[in-house]
Amino acid sequence: MAKVNKQVKILRYDPARDAKPYWKLYEIELDEESTILDVLNEIHWKHDGTLAYRRSCRSAICGSCAMKVNGQNLLACETPMHKFKGCLKIEPLPGFDIIKDLVVDMDKFFDKMKRIKPYLMVDRPIPAKEFVQTPEEFDEIRESAMCILCGACTSSCPSLWANENYLGPAALLKAYRFVFDSRDDGADERIDIINDKNGLWRCHTIFNCMEACPKHIKVTEYISKLKTKAVENSI
Ligand code: FES
Repeated sequence: MAKVNKQVKILRYDPARDAKPYWKLYEIELDEESTILDVLNEIHWKHDGTLAYRRSCRSAICGSCAMKVNGQNLLACETPMHKFKGCLKIEPLPGFDIIKDLVVDMDKFFDKMKRIKPYLMVDRPIPAKEFVQTPEEFDEIRESAMCILCGACTSSCPSLWANENYLGPAALLKAYRFVFDSRDDGADERIDIINDKNGLWRCHTIFNCMEACPKHIKVTEYISKLKTKAVENSI
């Protein structure tokens, strides 16, 4: 495989040592088919072992390698380096507190996820074997259930940048996934939770979340369906 030279700027920040984030330039040589994660590994393993970043599956499944590259939120492990011409500029996900370098604090993100009760709530008798769901019923939630909780959508949302208490697109998408699940009986309770001043109506259909989602989930569309459901419940 042909080798190429690449300039890479990474926003570095160690809150224990640095007064503020700063850009650090690296010059590396690696295979032209490398991913952004390969770039980070090359830097970490051969140039600067102090660089901090998250990764696990390397298969766009675990969601841990979400970051901002040349202005776009994406998964480092699935994005080829050659997608971007010239210098790479790599930053942590915006809108989250930085723990170190590209590692952000996801605690608030997952706390919001817990608020919408992300599990089946069942009032009906539990069947002896399993709940049956038709293919049509599953189709209602299929795409929303593909979320890998990477945070790329929530991090790209201007409403969240303006108000960190906003639930954000990922938590609302998770709410959709259960509200519209034919096996669930907690829809009204969840709609009450998300129909507050930091919930549903903070979404101004800006569509950044849909552009950022590495799984191409139509997040804004599902939030709109939740809005319709909230209005129906209130009449
Ligand atoms: Fe798991 Fe990228 S390393 S999604």
